Amino acid sequence: MKKAPIEVFDSWVTLGKDEGMQKNHSEAVENMISFATKKLEKFSFIDAGCGNGWVVRSVSKIPNCISATGVDGAFNMIDKAKKEDPQNNYICENLLTWSPKEKVNLVHSMEVFYYLENPEALIQHIYSNWLKENARLIIGLDFYLENPISHSWPEECGISIMQLLSKSTWKNFFIQAGFKGVESWSVGAKENWSGTLVLTGTK
Ligand SMILES: C[S@@+](CC[C@H](N)C(=O)[O-])C[C@H]1O[C@@H](n2cnc3c(N)ncnc32)[C@H](O)[C@@H]1O
Repeated sequence: MKKAPIEVFDSWVTLGKDEGMQKNHSEAVENMISFATKKLEKFSFIDAGCGNGWVVRSVSKIPNCISATGVDGAFNMIDKAKKEDPQNNYICENLLTWSPKEKVNLVHSMEVFYYLENPEALIQHIYSNWLKENARLIIGLDFYLENPISHSWPEECGISIMQLLSKSTWKNFFIQAGFKGVESWSVGAKENWSGTLVLTGTK
């Protein structure tokens, strides 16, 4: 029987599979963070679905970063992140119900939003409750309609919720939530791999 996403990722820490995500996601994440931070002066940052916190640790080293927070629903991911990095903030919460005490300048997320029953609700929640005016949301997705090799993942990973949506559906979620300047592009496309779909917009 398939299991809920957070339950599966919690067990990945014990299996050491969280480290593989850093390796597989780093090319796209570098592209996304470089795009999102290039014009920022002092900025506060949240990684939504931070896993073991590798992006939080990396972004916190950017000189203009004044605070870096990671949020993830998997207890073992957050426990590992806190043990590796006592400096930054790591919070074990469900993304759909948690909000920061202070809104931030940049929210990033890699390979998370399609694990939600209704990703559009999370995009709206982040727009309304996490972001300052003019702040940016940027997300990366490898599981989407135009990347056929990814379509078998729900069976292979045994995960109960994985929303297979098209590029235009994702883009519309951003526009409907109220984001301006919505853009999307692919990173790392090669034969049999359409690349990471990046979506971004500002409030
Ligand atoms: C594929 S992993 C990606 C982790 C990290 N972004 C990375 O690139 O290494 C997806 C993560 O999203 C988290 N997640 C999924 N749904 C969530 C939810 N509703 N609330 C909080 N975390 C969630 C999982 O626990 C998991 O750590």
